[in-house]
Amino acid sequence: MLILGIESSCDETGIALYDSAEGLLAHALHSQVAMHAEYGGVVPELASRDHIRRVVPLLREAVGRAGRRLDEVDAVAYTRGPGLAGALLVGCAFAEALALALDKPTIPVHHLEGHLLSPLLSRDPPSFPFVALLVSGGHTQLMRVTGVGEYELLGETLDDAAGEAFDKSAKLLGLPYPGGALLSQLAEQGTPGIYELPRPMQHSGDLNFSFSGLKTAVLTLVREQDQPLTETFKADAARAFQEAIVEVLVKKSLKALKQTGLKQLVVAGGVGANKQLRATLDDEARRKRFRVYYPELEFCTDNGAMIALAGCLRLQAGSPSKPAGEFAVQPRWPLMDISGNGA
Ligand code: KG4
Ligand code: ZN
Repeated sequence: MLILGIESSCDETGIALYDSAEGLLAHALHSQVAMHAEYGGVVPELASRDHIRRVVPLLREAVGRAGRRLDEVDAVAYTRGPGLAGALLVGCAFAEALALALDKPTIPVHHLEGHLLSPLLSRDPPSFPFVALLVSGGHTQLMRVTGVGEYELLGETLDDAAGEAFDKSAKLLGLPYPGGALLSQLAEQGTPGIYELPRPMQHSGDLNFSFSGLKTAVLTLVREQDQPLTETFKADAARAFQEAIVEVLVKKSLKALKQTGLKQLVVAGGVGANKQLRATLDDEARRKRFRVYYPELEFCTDNGAMIALAGCLRLQAGSPSKPAGEFAVQPRWPLMDISGNGA
């Protein structure tokens, strides 16, 4: 079964071809980061227009690299939500129209399900069941994943997502958009322990998170400094921020493993690329005898491969595809709405 995957929920256009027998054949990606950087954040209207420009060349690139023809595609999977309405509509309209022309069905995919399942693209994938820590720009959730479409929410952020906290703190330190990855590079040059920032909800007794207070603590720290900020201050503050957020994410993940009795942890979403988070979790995994899995770095952030994979796994699990031609997206779409209907 050959599945074409299309991702356009935010600021990356991704196209991929996934074969149920051979795995990922090819994927092509265009990031709009450089375009949005000028404005200090994603401009939804510009995002939609850019998806329109990129989608056909990227499709040609992926199909060419996979060495397949478009009419060999069995179904077209695309991100139906959550995300920016206009951006989602580009991927949806393109996927539905293409499938209509090819006379093939479509599989609307939940973006977060794509992230959740993305570690299954690696050479050494986890097996079900596992605990998933989903840490992206828009979401921070801990979940028990029993199978495709079988997701139980264990805890989530009550305010900012982890990636959002990285990006907002980076902005406060004067870093350009999107600051998360830059902040983490800067943190590596910083000295731990110079500044002490709060570990929000560490002792809340549940598996929920809250990161807006941490961001405010960074703001307070910045206001206490003489301006302009020195490079040493920025690096030490970045380090303090990263230490705090990583400690909370790791502690709650360990608690989720203990609570569920599971021995596998999957980390997905953009913040899953963070080196300190990975190193700390790897350390804990050795000490506490569990296994931790990450998507390949290129599949941590948004991409078409995870959408093609999720579409394929859904079909294999018995989830019906639908006839092409329905142009509908779901910008707001809780992941739990699709749980329990994987098969
Ligand atoms: O999963 P993703 O593409 O976004 C959503 O689907 O929402 O992740 C993007 C997020 C951004 O907030 C970005 O700053 C963050 O992931 N990110 C990082 C790193 N690389 C990307 N955060 C911390 N450390 C990194 N190395
Ligand atoms: Zn994403």
